[in-house]
Amino acid sequence: MTLEITPIHASPHIRHGSNAGQPLTRRDGILKVTGAARYAADNNPAGMLYAVLAVSSIARGRVTYLDLDAAKAHPGVVEVMTRANRPPLALDPDAKTTPFSFRFEALQNDLVRYANQPIAVVIGSTLEAATEGAALLAPRYEAEPARTGLDSTESFVPAAVRLISPPEERVGDVEKGLAAAITQVDATYETPAQYHNAMEPHAIVATWEGDALSIDMPTQGLALSQARIAEIFGLAIENVHIRSPFLGGGFGSKGVMSGPMVLGILAARLVGKPVKLVLRRDQMYGPVGHRPPTRQRLRLGMDGEGRLTALHHHAKTVTSTFDDFVEPAAEASHVLYASPAIATTHEASRIDIGTPLFMRAPGEASGSAALEGAIDEAAWACRMDPLEFRLRNYAEVEPISGKPFSSKALRECYAEGARHFGWSARPLEPRQMRDDAGFLVGWGVGTATFPALVFQAKARAVLKRDGTGLVETSAADMGQGAWTALAQLAADSLGLDIDEVEFRAGSSDLPDAGIAGGSAHTATAGTAIHAAGGDVISRLAELATRDERSPLFGAGNAGVLARGGRLFRRDDESRSESYADILARAGLADIEGRGEGARDPNAAEAYAMHSHGAVFAEVKVDPDLGQVRVTRLVGAFAAGRVINPRLVRSQYYGGMIWGVSFALHERAIVDHRSGRVLNADLAEYHIPVNADVPSVEALLIEEDDPYVNPLGIKGVGEIGITGTVGAVANAVWHATGVRVRSIPIRIEDLAMGAEFAG
Ligand code: MOS
Repeated sequence: MTLEITPIHASPHIRHGSNAGQPLTRRDGILKVTGAARYAADNNPAGMLYAVLAVSSIARGRVTYLDLDAAKAHPGVVEVMTRANRPPLALDPDAKTTPFSFRFEALQNDLVRYANQPIAVVIGSTLEAATEGAALLAPRYEAEPARTGLDSTESFVPAAVRLISPPEERVGDVEKGLAAAITQVDATYETPAQYHNAMEPHAIVATWEGDALSIDMPTQGLALSQARIAEIFGLAIENVHIRSPFLGGGFGSKGVMSGPMVLGILAARLVGKPVKLVLRRDQMYGPVGHRPPTRQRLRLGMDGEGRLTALHHHAKTVTSTFDDFVEPAAEASHVLYASPAIATTHEASRIDIGTPLFMRAPGEASGSAALEGAIDEAAWACRMDPLEFRLRNYAEVEPISGKPFSSKALRECYAEGARHFGWSARPLEPRQMRDDAGFLVGWGVGTATFPALVFQAKARAVLKRDGTGLVETSAADMGQGAWTALAQLAADSLGLDIDEVEFRAGSSDLPDAGIAGGSAHTATAGTAIHAAGGDVISRLAELATRDERSPLFGAGNAGVLARGGRLFRRDDESRSESYADILARAGLADIEGRGEGARDPNAAEAYAMHSHGAVFAEVKVDPDLGQVRVTRLVGAFAAGRVINPRLVRSQYYGGMIWGVSFALHERAIVDHRSGRVLNADLAEYHIPVNADVPSVEALLIEEDDPYVNPLGIKGVGEIGITGTVGAVANAVWHATGVRVRSIPIRIEDLAMGAEFAG
């Protein structure tokens, strides 16, 4: 059966390329570097008070005592909110209305389920007073031993991973494939817990006006947060107003409504005044999500020619005792390499932590770290160049689903990246290269992949009589440049220059732009904008082509194109008319259009849609100390149509640098006695600084995807991490001959590796 693929709202009127495709700088750049950009916590409504969380220092048990008298005796403390006086909610915080509505803590009982869980809120006239008041609470607990790490409780097969995906998937017979193999690899990799350390912590300024709620809060999904707040507080959706023009990073953590944000709103309710609540850096380690640790076993079989006969990817991870997010790490093996037999399986256990959450490239980042390492081991087991091995096992169709790819320019990414990097000079054996200073030099490659998603969004476009335009959607710019890229699409959708179009975003009063997540924001909101502008131009064309007085009379809707504020006859561009003239003659002040963005279900059913890429890394390792430096990174990525190459490169750089962080720096260390994160700050939670990443290049590989969405846009935000972790780790092996399977790779893994001195 062949499915019929209908292109979604492919407007013939829109000329692409005058704005889209240009490397414009960020529209918010000057606001940001001058400090004029107003982030949520920069708002100070009249009469505002400050709320500070008191959080638990134990990971499991109950709160038995809070010294409320001491806190209230502080001259600057206005009120202390506990479960005794916390205003009611319309929804039980422990209710699960959909798989996507996360449970949260809002002082509903005295239980402690993880360290850093909010146990009270102190409201003061100053931040200092509230902070001191919170310290004066001096909580006492009835503590139970904390269960931490991957092995402290019994494991189970989760009902779903990534909230709704099947935990186990199989094609072919893995055991048979392994038995038939000439060469095998059986390798176990570990990845650490990581926390979303956005520069801007979670913050809220909440103001109640009767039953209406006005909020400044960073959120990756304005309409989602608005609906969730309405549900939690029993309000009409239109009574919840959220402003979220700028986010200082989100990484997934600001994609769902968290407990502390609900507490900020409750605090404002309790005191009847506007309240600001900002999480301290250390309070980010618990109630607002994290990337959970994994242990992944990869079993690979290869035939005599280096072709995979079997691939089993098993991932063990942890989740909280009270909710169900399970990191889909093994899903990385659904996409990349062809094998007659593939199995992906997951296992989880419940421990005393805050619920894990989506974190930039959830699943793919941890999963591809293990898969790319194991693939490198398989290449070496076959004594094949690791790039050649990847090409030998190139998946022509998506392995698990068997679907063709909507487009896949991965071969081009491999070829361009390798050429640019100089890969052909790489010796096969490890430990063959040294630089002038005697450092061991290694080169590694990793394949990058991320799904090309499209969610649902709406937009509104208006063309005014003076020939200028207005486009609105509630999009959030979390630093990635959405406000700029979407404005480019907005201008193109109306056939105007970017300076002639006002682009409004960042408020929940505007049409729902969907979520800025899943690397799908430009594709999703952009498709809605494209459709809204197209709707305006269709209406305008109708006015002109039906009017005998217009030079476009009789051209028909499909017979005109919009450019530079004019409509042109397609077959005779000497005949044209300005927007302003068409509107004036029709006696209209403006024309309004609406648009929606969504995936074409038929196309999604017929095709596998992914961004692809290849990352090449050079590392230098001190042979005596084991210190690793990444000296060069080259990534080549194919992600459909590029709206703004400057911003897209910047997204790849960000992802690749996070990949370096993943491979060499980042990990949360849990004290197994207390269940607390020991390095809950930016001094001890290591991330790369400039000196850690001297040279990063991102090559944009052209790709035309006719099915992914009408604009041909795929995502760029998350893919950069996925190839880079493997590339760096594999380069460390190539430099040293030591295969470190515990990520991040640390000095002691190398300096103390038995093989190292050899
Ligand atoms: Mo991202 S983890 O989809 O915000």
